[in-house]
Amino acid sequence: MNFELIITETRGRVGLITLNRPKALNALNDQVMDEIGAALDGFEADDGIGAIVITGSEKAFAAGADIGAMAEFSYMDAYKGDYITRNWERVKTCRKPIIAAVAGFALGGGCELAMMCDIIIAADSARFGQPEVKLGILPGAGGTQRLPRAVGKAKAMDLCLTARFMDAAEAEKAGLVSRVVPADKLVDEALAAAETIAGFSLPVVMMIKESVNRAFESSLNEGLLFERRVFHSAFALKDQKEGMAAFVEKRKPEFGHD
Ligand code: HXC
Repeated sequence: MNFELIITETRGRVGLITLNRPKALNALNDQVMDEIGAALDGFEADDGIGAIVITGSEKAFAAGADIGAMAEFSYMDAYKGDYITRNWERVKTCRKPIIAAVAGFALGGGCELAMMCDIIIAADSARFGQPEVKLGILPGAGGTQRLPRAVGKAKAMDLCLTARFMDAAEAEKAGLVSRVVPADKLVDEALAAAETIAGFSLPVVMMIKESVNRAFESSLNEGLLFERRVFHSAFALKDQKEGMAAFVEKRKPEFGHD
């Protein structure tokens, strides 16, 4: 796949997307998001891919939505174009797990993009923030909703209302990121985690992703019922037979992804 503002690669069973708009600190405009969407389409359709990593540069995962592109927007420009959510939905609807590997700035829409992913692995250089208030706007791609779910109301309010940045250590302590690694190991660590995931049964991995996400969209009881049904359905998979037979026979399972 050839793109202008992102680079896509296949590393083993992992699809790697690298945002590549360095002069604008990977600011996210329609073209970047369309290209991410097209790359995700390709990786989802590829049976050889079991997980996806999205990363940026050493300096910035993404410094936000492109401010220049929206500076002169009227209300109707934003409303009609459904800026910016139109082409961001694709990240949310991806069924294969996505890891955000974040170094440097993840601000505004950049932080929101990372939060749309399933796991955030941060370099020690990472800085997270929702500084939209400084621009006379508010977060518009999930910042006021996903951040409190990830870090709680106090820190979410603090970040959204004061525009201060949170470093990697604070983000890990707050529960926004799953691990912090040295910056020079970031992509390798993310690829290794993605490769581990891709080695498991793809349908089971997708069921886990769906079930964990359900925890944020339902009551506990509804979520437990959902999990129970999905759990039952796992017994229809050949991968379940293989996984359990391999354990009993003390060998490594060979998942066939069905
Ligand atoms: C467009 C951006 C940009 C952005 C940086 N650049 N962020 N361009 N949109 N979000 C550009 C700068 O204009 C500059 O271009 C180049 O990248 C380098 O940035 P500098 O500011 O010179 O770098 P530095 O001094 O290191 O400061 C880094 C920074 C700062 C702290 C990240 O750039 C910054 O505050 N950026 C804006 C962060 C922000 O407010 N994000 C939220 C955006 S609103 P030139 O051409 O001058 O070299 C948003 C809403 C989401 O995300 C809504 C979703 C629906």
